Amino acid sequence: MTLFRWSICLLAILVYEVTCLKVQYEGDQVLKITPKTSNQAQYMKELTHEWLLDLWKPESSEGINPGREVHVRVPLSHVQLMKEKLQEQQIPFKIMINDVQKLISYATTKHLQRISLETYDYTIYHPMNEIYHWMEEINEKHSDLVTKRYLGHTYEHRPIYYFKVGWPSDKKKKVILMDCGFHAREWVSVAFCQWFVKEILATHKDDPVLTNVLKQVDLYIIPILNIDGYIYTWTKERLWRKNRAIYNETCTGVDLNRNFDAHWCTIGASRDCSSNTFCGSEPASEPETKAMVSLVEKIKSDILGYLTFHSYGQMILLPYGYTTTPSKDHDAMMEAASRAVSKMKEKHNNEYAVGSSCLVINYFDSGSSGDWATEIGIKYSYTFELRDNGTYGFQLPEEQIKPTCEETTTAVMTMFEYFNEKYLENSAVSVTSMKLNVLLSCILCMYYVLTH
Ligand code: ARG
Ligand code: ZN
Repeated sequence: MTLFRWSICLLAILVYEVTCLKVQYEGDQVLKITPKTSNQAQYMKELTHEWLLDLWKPESSEGINPGREVHVRVPLSHVQLMKEKLQEQQIPFKIMINDVQKLISYATTKHLQRISLETYDYTIYHPMNEIYHWMEEINEKHSDLVTKRYLGHTYEHRPIYYFKVGWPSDKKKKVILMDCGFHAREWVSVAFCQWFVKEILATHKDDPVLTNVLKQVDLYIIPILNIDGYIYTWTKERLWRKNRAIYNETCTGVDLNRNFDAHWCTIGASRDCSSNTFCGSEPASEPETKAMVSLVEKIKSDILGYLTFHSYGQMILLPYGYTTTPSKDHDAMMEAASRAVSKMKEKHNNEYAVGSSCLVINYFDSGSSGDWATEIGIKYSYTFELRDNGTYGFQLPEEQIKPTCEETTTAVMTMFEYFNEKYLENSAVSVTSMKLNVLLSCILCMYYVLTH
């Protein structure tokens, strides 16, 4: 009996610990601040640094410049003082999110215990155990076209997987590499990769471009890279960004998109491990980065395109992040991306900006995977920033998952169309001539009916 009581007691403590250790954002506000002068920008930089504020845009304080919007989360304890200081300095600001916790509590749907692939809901955010389960089911139910492969492991020793999607072929196939979930709090990115896999599986038979692509190209899709970080955003701290590598007693986490060997840690990245843009101890110091690098190194000469998905800001970013000088294939990349954004606009009338990363996003960064992909010779490298423009930021409501994924799928398919035209063999009967044939037979048929 006493043992029973003790275990109940222990269980209660455990439940209490788990629920109470979760970081709360009650009363925290996200402010949209636009410093007008360089003094005001400098003031903002210092304040963010001193108060260790969580910058949402730009991602590192170096990127704060006069005339540019800053989105920053201010904890309840500092909100009042912050506003007073801004007023004092005459720096214009608006409240972007009034109570961060309210948004978070409202956001997540209750989860069914046992989900099967048929009933998997692509319009909600899923915790990691459900995503692992989903990957396994995709692998089992679509084994003709899809194989799940082990990429490597995370800092906390969780397995990272990727899907290889494509038909077997005698000829050497090209590769298009896609990944999601670099940054833990960017949940819609993770939702997108799942949506996209589902969409390919549902449409490839009826889509002539996709049919052709899957014959000559293997898609390598990493549905989520930063698994430790993602789990942490579900269990402890919704707005965590980095991985979970422990650097010392006070510091955890490396920004995986600052950890690649591309002008590593030279600009827009920090050597301070408490920073949100900490670049790590050296290029590819992190197991997640290493895992990607070792896969890519083996197949890099076959890779035609690299697409990486982040949020937020509604942009398609081209290299580079560390210099305004355009990359070698800038014009070709612009052509495909411009087509993609105009198709996106047709879908839900939503605007995405396109161009060199540092010009469009308005701050420099170094060590990103997008820049690294370019430097190792991948011709087309794009970093997507999905919805929104800051209304909800990382806390994008679940209602927006569907339209976000639809427009992004349109963009990716448009790029595939471009690759198909430019780089793949197309059988004699092209799509247009097929359409023309159908039209012609219809006309003949009508003629026959009318004249007989
Ligand atoms: N906002 C993301 C980040 O700061 C994307 C940066 C993209 N940079 C690039 N060089 N393509 O990590
Ligand atoms: Zn990101």
